[in-house]
Amino acid sequence: MSSALDQLVAAQPELAIILGSGLGAVAETFSPVLTVPYSEVPGLPQSKVPGHAGRFVLGSLPGSGKKVVVAQGRSHLYEGLTAAEVTAGVRFLAGELGVKRLILTNAAGAIDASFHVGGLMLITDHLNLLGASPLTGGPHFHDMSEVYSAELRQAFLSAAGRLSLALHQGVYAAVPGPQYETPAEIRMFRTLGAHAVGMSTVPEAIQARALGLEVAGISLLTNWAAGLAPATLHHGEVVEVGLAAGKDLARLLHEALA
Ligand code: HPA
Repeated sequence: MSSALDQLVAAQPELAIILGSGLGAVAETFSPVLTVPYSEVPGLPQSKVPGHAGRFVLGSLPGSGKKVVVAQGRSHLYEGLTAAEVTAGVRFLAGELGVKRLILTNAAGAIDASFHVGGLMLITDHLNLLGASPLTGGPHFHDMSEVYSAELRQAFLSAAGRLSLALHQGVYAAVPGPQYETPAEIRMFRTLGAHAVGMSTVPEAIQARALGLEVAGISLLTNWAAGLAPATLHHGEVVEVGLAAGKDLARLLHEALA
C-alpha cells in the first residue's frame, strides 16, 4: 500500500484551492478521499495559526467528478517565514501534483464602504505591500498584468449570478502584519486603490503566475477594516465570520468550477 502522499501525487489533480482563515470546513464539501498533513511533504512549513489545519485534502468536484486538491491552511510572512518559504506549497502543487489552476481564498478586512461584512469579494488585482516577493533571487521580470484570470473571474461572476449571491469585486492589498492596520493606514490603502486588506494570497499568486498557472482569488470579508466601524479587531471574530460565510464560498466554488 503506497502512502497517502504517493496517492496524492499519483492523482495529478488539475485544480487546487487554498483555504484561508476559518475556511477549512469548505474542504469537506469536496467529497474528501484522502488527507496529507503538510508535515509529510518535504520542504513545506507547517501552519501554526489557529483556524489553519495544515493539510492537503484530495477530493472531487460535485457534478463533473474532476479531482481537486484543497489546501487547508497556509503559512504567512508574519510567522517569520520568507515569501519563498510561504510559497513552497504552490511549487509542490504545480511541480509534484501537476496543478494547472489555482483558486486562492482568504479572510480580509473590507475597505470599500459599499461592501458588506460576511460577503465575498472576487479579487480583480492586487497591491503587493509586503515588501517581499517569492521570486527574489530567482526568475526575474515576470509579467503581472493579469494575475487573476479574466476567464476564471467571468466564471465566478456568472456562477454568483446563477446563485443570486452578491459577489463584490476589487483590489486586494497584502500587508505583512501580524498586527491589524491603523485607521490612517486604511485611509492610505483606499487612496492607493485597495478595496480589501489581508496578510496572505499575494506571494502565492505571484509564484503561481511565474509557474504559468491560471489563478483566481476570493476574499471573505470578515470585518470592516480599521476605522470603518467602532469595534476593535480580533482574530476570533475573523475565524467566526469565516465559518458562517464559508457556506456561501463553498456554493460559489461548486457552481463556478463544476
Ligand atoms: N486586516 C488585515 N488582515 C485581515 C483583516 C484585516 O482587517 N481581516 C482579516 N484579515
